[in-house]
Amino acid sequence: MNEKKIFEILKNTRDRALANYSHFKVGAVIISEDEKIFTGHNIESSSYGLTVCAERVALFKALSEGIRKFKKIYILAEDNDFCPPCGACRQLLIEYAPDIEVILFTDDMKRKQIKLKELLPLAFTKNRLPE
Ligand code: THU
Repeated sequence: MNEKKIFEILKNTRDRALANYSHFKVGAVIISEDEKIFTGHNIESSSYGLTVCAERVALFKALSEGIRKFKKIYILAEDNDFCPPCGACRQLLIEYAPDIEVILFTDDMKRKQIKLKELLPLAFTKNRLPE
């Protein structure tokens, strides 16, 4: 699927975000190795700490459908600036999608691409745990 189409999906997803407390809507689209698409947006709670980011919603949807290999994740917020994934999302992504490319969009389709491994160097992973 071309990026223009992905951008449209990303925008529609972002617009559905449940961000009643922060008023900061975020959308994410994660693409599996075999080109399947999973969307996610942030879901906030009146108990603020229970909020889940867009990236994790998209990742969890894909994982729960049995997807294990990922190529790309796209992220779009609503303030026309790049929205890099938070630390918690980086950790989950490094565990389940270590080689993923992260593509940040702005509303006017500016684009920034970076490898997750560059966003989370020296990550703690299962390799560090005892057998
Ligand atoms: N948020 C995301 O969904 N993804 C990010 O990459 C950064 C932050 C959400 C969490 C919360 O609902 C709102 O943005 C403000 O932090």
